[in-house]
Amino acid sequence: MAEQILILDFGSQYTQLIARRVRELNVYCEIHPYNKIPEITSDIKGVILSGSPCSVRDEGSPDVDLSLFRKKLPLLGVCYGAQLMAQKNGGNVTPSTIREYGRAKLSEINHDTDLMNGFTPNSQVWMSHGDTISALPEDFEIIASTPSVKVAAYKVKNEMTYGIQFHPEVTHSLDGKALIKNFVVDICGCKQDWTSSLFVETTVEQLKAQLGNDKVVLGLSGGVDSSVAAMLIHKAIGKNLYCIFVDNGLLRKNEFEEVLASYKDMGLNVKGVDAKQKFYDALANISDPEGKRKAIGRVFIEVFDDESHQIEDVKWLGQGTIYPDVIESVSVKGPSATIKSHHNVGGLPDYMKLKIVEPLNTLFKDEVREVGRTMGIPETIIGRHPFPGPGLAIRILGDITPDKVQILQEVDHIWIKGLKDAGLYDQVWQAGAILLPVQSVGVMGDERTYERVIALRAVTSVDGMTADWSHLPYEFLGEVSNDIINKVKGVNRVVYDISSKPPATIEWE
Ligand code: XMP
Repeated sequence: MAEQILILDFGSQYTQLIARRVRELNVYCEIHPYNKIPEITSDIKGVILSGSPCSVRDEGSPDVDLSLFRKKLPLLGVCYGAQLMAQKNGGNVTPSTIREYGRAKLSEINHDTDLMNGFTPNSQVWMSHGDTISALPEDFEIIASTPSVKVAAYKVKNEMTYGIQFHPEVTHSLDGKALIKNFVVDICGCKQDWTSSLFVETTVEQLKAQLGNDKVVLGLSGGVDSSVAAMLIHKAIGKNLYCIFVDNGLLRKNEFEEVLASYKDMGLNVKGVDAKQKFYDALANISDPEGKRKAIGRVFIEVFDDESHQIEDVKWLGQGTIYPDVIESVSVKGPSATIKSHHNVGGLPDYMKLKIVEPLNTLFKDEVREVGRTMGIPETIIGRHPFPGPGLAIRILGDITPDKVQILQEVDHIWIKGLKDAGLYDQVWQAGAILLPVQSVGVMGDERTYERVIALRAVTSVDGMTADWSHLPYEFLGEVSNDIINKVKGVNRVVYDISSKPPATIEWE
């Protein structure tokens, strides 16, 4: 196992960002809930305590037994983590008298402390706290202050234990990256050798040991995660990995054929299954979005189950689960409330009795992409926009018919090709077209038309959790609109969606 930093999560919205910053330094780290601390093995080189929406002054607020690692390993408390350590050692934490949210400047910095090495005078930091450390325990010394927060950072004398009131993981803390590097590399002594090629090498070895001669079945979706997961398992067990790629009739134009061909080029043992009609039959007359998702999920399971039963003696199910899904399901806050049933689609029932292998469950999305590139997966798969499991079914508002799918496939093709030809595809996080259940009046030649309306959607985002509409050039949008109306029969109007998420969502259903 690689050396690593342990991040204990007290429920802060920024905990994942701490992990991102550590990994950007090529140092492996894991987030664990504060109340489920893993065994402190010799691989763990340091511990970071996250922030929290709670107050240390509240009864029953998150607590941790510091003796597990204090004085044994370097320790850094961020915000709540810093307050908790101060309070538990006899310091005082009180409500802040002024609002401390947003940018602040470190007016005093002790540059002799290794943690603050490289900080510029008056360095800007990001504050977000309702409590403040009003008195430090004995042996704790202040190493940075702002004009209104005396204890902006502290160190415990003769110990590698530190606390900071600001959030170094947020980009608004301009020297935040330097601070995390000081802690992880200089103080914890991590070697920064965790790279995507090392990940591939060690994961393939682990998979070989774990899977031996067993057979694995894996459902490919054409997306990044399942493709990268498949390639890793393929490297470990070759033809014993059986991939199934289902054409649900809701993919983009030509996508099934093109992606299937790429998979074969990559050397994967893949079977393409044309199940279009089964999906169309199951979707007939269903207009409700959740109803459509459920029908698609159900048919997918039937098809997948049928296919995997044809593989003799299969023991494992490969999945492309990535780290954010794992954190979400074990986080302090627990799985967030279901707004859409999203990722449950394609989830397989227990009765399949297969053991699960998830080689990407410690990686963030961009790390998955890097690993994919390291293994030579083509950019057409790696750089592809996210695409929902239920595909075009949730971009055709109302019921689904093959005719509507075909109209939308043509429109979507023009839209996506337009973005690529104009060099805009990579600036956009996700794009798609939506077929609206309304008709509007138009005029073509001398004829009155009464045809469908298309909404185009393109968003910028980091992780799909929040998103803004892409500010694409008007001329480009005008050309695409013309192209769509001229070429796709049945469409006479195109609109552009300018809603952000929240309050809207990326998909319309
Ligand atoms: P929303 O619409 O909630 O979407 O802003 C966020 C991201 O999730 C994708 N999405 C889905 N993915 N099954 C999926 O696998 C679904 O049912 C589903 N619905 C939305 C969406 O495309 C975006 O990337």
